[in-house]
Amino acid sequence: IRDDEEAACSYVANYIVDRIKHFAPTPRLPFVLGLPTGSSPLAVYRLLVDRYKAGEVSFENVVTFNMDEYVGIPRDHPESYHSFMWKHFFSHVNIRPSNVNILDGNAQNLEAECIAYEDKIRAAGGIDLFLGGIGEDGHIAFNEPGSSLASRTRVKTLAYDTILANSRFFGNDLSKVPKMALTVGVQTVLEAREVVAVVVGARKAPALQRCVEQAVNHMWTLSALQLHPHPMLVCDEDATLEL
Ligand code: GLP
Repeated sequence: IRDDEEAACSYVANYIVDRIKHFAPTPRLPFVLGLPTGSSPLAVYRLLVDRYKAGEVSFENVVTFNMDEYVGIPRDHPESYHSFMWKHFFSHVNIRPSNVNILDGNAQNLEAECIAYEDKIRAAGGIDLFLGGIGEDGHIAFNEPGSSLASRTRVKTLAYDTILANSRFFGNDLSKVPKMALTVGVQTVLEAREVVAVVVGARKAPALQRCVEQAVNHMWTLSALQLHPHPMLVCDEDATLEL
């Protein structure tokens, strides 16, 4: 628990830099990083870019897999998760474009896209560190309430609460918010060697309380981290109001 969002995100950025550096002596092994979107990790990306620009970390040997992507908006739409990631992170660091993996929400065959994504994660040797956020309804990635805790990458219909929460990025017009997404599953996240979730702001306090203090529950999918051997929640004071 850190005082505020900046301090929480700074902790996470430093943690990720340390992990990447730990891999540096074995340059033939890429570090495989799972990444989220959302406003919570924004400061993490900004701080990682700062550390890169200061020459303190290189992303040359990092492979990334994003958690999710909307279905039905073009890849170059300003609110697609492709656009988000390039705008806030990838364009500012030395990652190789061929090492960036993001689900294609416009694939002809969405199910095949999801299966291929899981295969790619496996072929990369699995995810070393999955960074995540949390929705107000306790979801991780787009694993909405009711998602199986054994779920893998798949097509998911978004919950009304999520559509409402995300409408702020679409001019508060619910009709413009995509209703479906591709997302890694709860099990996909649990198979990462380490999972770090950044939880900031009072809006997240009820969900955090349920995920941490109540039982593992498919209605609050971040609670599945209780089953993980190396999970870490990094919060600001506001997010912990109900603990
Ligand atoms: C979306 C993303 C999640 C993210 C959540 C919270 O639903 N799919 O991965 O955790 O938004 O976003 P924010 O951090 O903006 O509250």
